[in-house]
Amino acid sequence: MLKADNLSKVFNIHLIGDKVIKGCNGVSFIVDRGEFLGISGPSGAGKSTILKCIYRTYLPTGGDIRYDSVLYGQVNLATIADHMVISIRHKEIGYISQFLKVIPRVSAVDIVAEPLLLKNGVSPEEAKTKAGELLERLNIPRKLFDAYPATFSGGEQQRVNIARAIIWKPRLLLLDEPTASLDRDSTAIVVELLKELRNEGTSMVGIFHDNELMKSITDRAYRMNPETEYAE
Ligand SMILES: Nc1ncnc2c1ncn2[C@@H]1O[C@H](COP(=O)(O)OP(=O)(O)OP(=O)(O)O)[C@@H](O)[C@H]1O
Ligand SMILES: [Mg+2]
Repeated sequence: MLKADNLSKVFNIHLIGDKVIKGCNGVSFIVDRGEFLGISGPSGAGKSTILKCIYRTYLPTGGDIRYDSVLYGQVNLATIADHMVISIRHKEIGYISQFLKVIPRVSAVDIVAEPLLLKNGVSPEEAKTKAGELLERLNIPRKLFDAYPATFSGGEQQRVNIARAIIWKPRLLLLDEPTASLDRDSTAIVVELLKELRNEGTSMVGIFHDNELMKSITDRAYRMNPETEYAE
């Protein structure tokens, strides 16, 4: 379903004298349909950069990312036109960022319901009900449903972020340290939800700092080799 082949990303920073910073280098892996691939490696190795290249937040500077799209057939995410990337993000690929970008003045329940409304064409009432159920499973107190997540704790924000990303059951889900700021109970709930999602057919690529946790939910791991990745 997804095949990264010799993927690399370098950043040219003009502000600091055209310095070249290596994001990731020579990354190759395959994700079969319905599979959960873990990515591990030291801080700064380029794990987030890989996910951002797949989601095309970053334009790769080398290599290919082959993806079997429902909308377009097999495409190279490294090179296809922006409008195709936008359609694929809209209908097929979800992304949970390492840090929540809070949408100002939108309540928690509406933030979570929005993708269902926009992507799956569900009615506003049904979307809100489903969003509430998911927030409840994630132990977000009911009194916070109508509050703005800007003032939520880090762990509460991350759970809202996760709920928004999984509610529409994307075909491929990219997860950047989704449980980093969660306690053990919340982590267990998220793991359960991710397993359910996988059983319903979502393929996933996830970054985890906790190796035990990664082993318990992923099928395979791609370990970034710092020596290769940092090579000049
Ligand atoms: N937009 C950017 N501009 C310049 N350099 C960047 C940019 N994004 C990432 N980098 C650099 O690329 C390298 C890899 O960063 P990345 O965020 O992918 O690491 P990571 O493996 O996810 O680390 P962590 O485990 O700390 O999240 C770092 O040296 C970082 O400074
Ligand atoms: Mg990262």
